[in-house]
Amino acid sequence: MSAPCQILLVCGSLREASTNAAVLRTIVAAPVAGVSATVFDGLALLPHFNPDDDTEPLPAPVADLRARIAAADAVLFSTPEYAGALPGSFKNLLDWTIGGGEIYQKPVAWINVSTMPTGAAGAHASLRAVLGYAGTRIIDAACAQIPVARHAVGEDGLIHDDALRREIAAAVAALRDARTARRYIGCLVVERCDRTPLTSQHVRASSHIQPGVKSADDARTTCAKS
Ligand SMILES: Cc1cc2nc3c(=O)[nH]c(=O)nc-3n(C[C@H](O)[C@H](O)[C@H](O)COP(=O)(O)O)c2cc1C
Repeated sequence: MSAPCQILLVCGSLREASTNAAVLRTIVAAPVAGVSATVFDGLALLPHFNPDDDTEPLPAPVADLRARIAAADAVLFSTPEYAGALPGSFKNLLDWTIGGGEIYQKPVAWINVSTMPTGAAGAHASLRAVLGYAGTRIIDAACAQIPVARHAVGEDGLIHDDALRREIAAAVAALRDARTARRYIGCLVVERCDRTPLTSQHVRASSHIQPGVKSADDARTTCAKS
């Protein structure tokens, strides 16, 4: 059996009683098969992005963010819309992901919990633009609009409604399955490498799937184990 898909959950709201955070806590509390999910809780600790500070040694909260993205198989965001776009503190987090490159080619998706008629369309258009710029792999099948009213969040900070839980779990499962699909594509890359000289592009493609894959032999061994 292959290792669980490690999904990093990132909330765009700093609000104590955030509905977006409740969705992410619920994902941890009601795990989806084949998924190990953890919440990134360092949003408030990140310094204002300044390119001058994007050098070693990085500020500790930034190093933590980048390490956690690097260790994850996929990243799932849930964010409110502020003034027609993304909350400033959350855009700040996304700006810190650009220089490190850990998020490049990472499968990503978002859950939209807005109950507004617009469905926070501005925030999600902004997310698509920023995550596209960052070179992530946006998994549309895992992007979901699941309106969550404040009263749907229990005193324990979790969502208990079965229908909402099913919708949330379906989005998480779609993100998990995107990783699996990518691993199969990795095997196809190996097949191709067997027939044609290995190019740096092939190695780059396969090393995005499994860190540490540097050659066709590495990729073949890794695929055989998974
Ligand atoms: C400063 C501010 C600006 C907002 N701007 C928008 C907006 O442009 N569009 C929208 O749909 N909701 C807007 N909202 C409402 C929030 O998106 C909404 O309260 C959301 O559910 C908050 O998510 P949270 O519970 O996770 O913090 C705004 C809220 C605040 C505080």
